[in-house]
Amino acid sequence: MKAAFLDPSGVPFVRDVDDPEPASDLVTVRVRRAALHLGNLLGAGERPLGSEAVGIVEHAPADSPLAPGDRVGTFPAWGVVRERIALTPERVFAVSDEVPDDVAAQLYVNALTAQMVLRAFERTTARTGDDGPLIVSGAASALGRILLADAQDRGYDVVAVVRRVASAERVAAGFGVPAVATSDAGWRAELARILDGRAAAAVADAHGGPDGHALWAFLARGGSVLQWGDLSGEPVGMRASELLPTELRLEGVSVSRWLEAVAAGDRAADVARVEVLARTRPELFRVAQRFTLDTLGPALERLRRTDGSGTVLVDLMPDQ
Ligand SMILES: NC(=O)c1ccc[n+]([C@@H]2O[C@H](COP(=O)([O-])OP(=O)(O)OC[C@H]3O[C@@H](n4cnc5c(N)ncnc54)[C@H](OP(=O)(O)O)[C@@H]3O)[C@@H](O)[C@H]2O)c1
Repeated sequence: MKAAFLDPSGVPFVRDVDDPEPASDLVTVRVRRAALHLGNLLGAGERPLGSEAVGIVEHAPADSPLAPGDRVGTFPAWGVVRERIALTPERVFAVSDEVPDDVAAQLYVNALTAQMVLRAFERTTARTGDDGPLIVSGAASALGRILLADAQDRGYDVVAVVRRVASAERVAAGFGVPAVATSDAGWRAELARILDGRAAAAVADAHGGPDGHALWAFLARGGSVLQWGDLSGEPVGMRASELLPTELRLEGVSVSRWLEAVAAGDRAADVARVEVLARTRPELFRVAQRFTLDTLGPALERLRRTDGSGTVLVDLMPDQ
């Protein structure tokens, strides 16, 4: 069967590999469609491509609730841009028929990260007792939009930060939240005006760099910076002494740790929540473009554009 990899310089290629053997403790999935994410490009050396997909169960352990023919989503499924994959059962989730393949293929990486960020926010407010707003930057990104929607559904007071003015307008209109654009020279004053003297309980930041750093000034004492992205790719550029009077906390949030770091009960709640989002808010799971194993080079170029138009998908069964 065919499987996709990145070479040490990040160039994609396809190679024939052995089909997985049916095993008594693994679920074998025929992969239909996989999502590509910026995080899939990280790492060193030759590495398999992909981390989530939708597919059909071909073999399941005897004690599994899954059976051959079931449609499932998979995460974390490292190297899932391949025709078949064998995974431990806690990485495979039944998906309802109401959720189309284009949504099911990209259901977990972004939406589970949003669950982790919001849980970190809840930990922060429980620790500080602060009921100030949550500032979400990178709010026009695929993940940022899910984060905004879910935070709003939970009744949190949210302020969005994006890069472009047009995106701020779209986010404000689409979600009904105040939004500022860091490309506007007066954005800090505008954010201060929106906050109207209130300090933020936490900043969920995906910009990084100087703009991400500038958001720290809006935090309440002891508040948290929940770092879930690095869209600018620039250093934050802070002095350590900044942490002293503010007592702020820096916390990285990575979905690559979801299986290991999140308790089983919370993981089940996360998966259930994500399925609800998929059924009720399918517009949060837009598709930028679909590619095939023959067009992985253009697929990665599309992924690197980060223009907010949606998720890049790879079709492993293009004829169906
Ligand atoms: N922590 C985790 O586990 C995890 C999981 C998945 C993704 N991520 C991260 O989340 C971020 C968003 O990923 P995504 O797939 O949702 O991306 P995406 O949809 O491709 O993001 C597009 C948005 O990124 C913004 N953007 C692009 N370059 C920027 C820059 N230099 N500075 C500020 N904003 C910029 C643009 O905002 P404008 O429209 O305003 O220009 C655009 O709308 C990435 O950093 C990704 O690595 C993290």
